[in-house]
Amino acid sequence: MADILAIETSCDETAAAVVRDGCEVMSSVVASQASQHSPFGGVVPEIASRSHQDVIGPVVEKALADAKMNLTDMAAVAVTQGPGLLGALMVGFAFAKALAFAADLPLIGVNHLEAHLYANLLEHSEMRPPFVALVVSGGHTLLVHVAEWGDYQVLGQTLDDAAGEAFDKIAGLLGLGYPGGPLVAELAEQGDSEAIKFPRAMMHTPDYNFSLSGLKTAVITYVNKISAEGGALNKADICAAFQAAVVDVQVAKTVRAAREYGVSDVVLAGGVAANKELRGRLTTSLRAIGADIWFPSPQMCTDNAAMVGAAAFRQYQLGDFLLETDEPLSSMRFQPCQE
Ligand code: KG4
Ligand code: ZN
Repeated sequence: MADILAIETSCDETAAAVVRDGCEVMSSVVASQASQHSPFGGVVPEIASRSHQDVIGPVVEKALADAKMNLTDMAAVAVTQGPGLLGALMVGFAFAKALAFAADLPLIGVNHLEAHLYANLLEHSEMRPPFVALVVSGGHTLLVHVAEWGDYQVLGQTLDDAAGEAFDKIAGLLGLGYPGGPLVAELAEQGDSEAIKFPRAMMHTPDYNFSLSGLKTAVITYVNKISAEGGALNKADICAAFQAAVVDVQVAKTVRAAREYGVSDVVLAGGVAANKELRGRLTTSLRAIGADIWFPSPQMCTDNAAMVGAAAFRQYQLGDFLLETDEPLSSMRFQPCQE
C-alpha cells in the first residue's frame, strides 16, 4: 500500500491530495485564486506565485489532516513539474522538494497534462489504453494517441490560443467575468447557436492542429460592428455561436483521429472537458462510429492534486524519482516539463 502526497501549483489553483495506490483519493484540497485574478480578466502570474506561497502550507496540512495521516505515513511526495506558469510551478516544487528531503521520501515530478488524463482513471478504473485523448485546458489544446500509459504521441495541437483561453477571452470581451468557460457555457444554453455564423478554422485540414485566434477576432469584429451600429448585443447568441464553432472543430478532428488510429475509446481531459456541449456532441458522434467516450466529473476536469497523485503512482512503481531517499539536495535542479 502506497500513499502519495501530491501537490499542484501550475496555474491558479493551489492543491494538495493524498492518493492511495494511484486510485483511492484519501483527501483532496483545492484553493482557487479565481477571485484574485478576476478583476484582470485572466491569470496574473505574479499574483499566482505569491498566492501559492501564502496558502501552500495550510493546503498541504489540510490534505494530510483530512486523510488522517502524517507526512511520515507517505510513501512519496509528488509535484506538478510543468507545463505551467514557471513562478507558480516553482512554489509547489520547492515546497515538495523540502518536504521530501525533510521526511526522507522520494520525490516524483508529474507532467500536468498526463495528470489530466489520469483524472479519468481515478473515476473510471476500467479505462484502458489504447485511446485517443483530447486534452483541452486553459493553456493547452491537443490530440494525443495513447498507446499505453506513458507512451504518448501528440497528433496535433493549437497553433495559437488554447480552448480555455478562447473561452476566457470571449467572457472578458462580453464582461461576463473570470474564469470564463463556465460562464460562457451557461449563457450559451439560452442562446441560438445558429443566429451568428462564426468561422470553423482548420476544420477540414488533413492535420490534427487547431487554431482559435481567428474565431476570437471574428467575435470581436462582430461585437464592434453591432456596437458601432448602435444595436443591442445578444450575448447568449454570441456565446452559443462561439461555443458551437469551437466544439464543431474539436468533435470533427477527434472523431477523425479515433477512426484513423482505429481506437474504440476516446478520453476527454482538462478544464474545458467540463463543457456540456462538448461532452454531449462528442458522445453522440463517437457512438455513431461505435466508439466509447470517457470524461471526468466536472470538479475532476479542472486543476486538482488528486489527478497528480494518480499519475505519480505509475512513476512510483517504476522508481522514476527526481530525488531518491538519502540523496543530497544538490543532486537535483528544477527543470520544468515541456508538453
Ligand atoms: O485544466 P484547467 O483547470 O487549468 C489549466 O490547466 O489550464 O482549465 C481551466 C480552463 C479555463 O480556461 C476555464 O475557462 C475552462 O477550463 N473551463 C471551461 C469550462 N469549465 C472550465 N471551458 C468551457 N466550458 C466549461 N464548462
Ligand atoms: Zn490543468
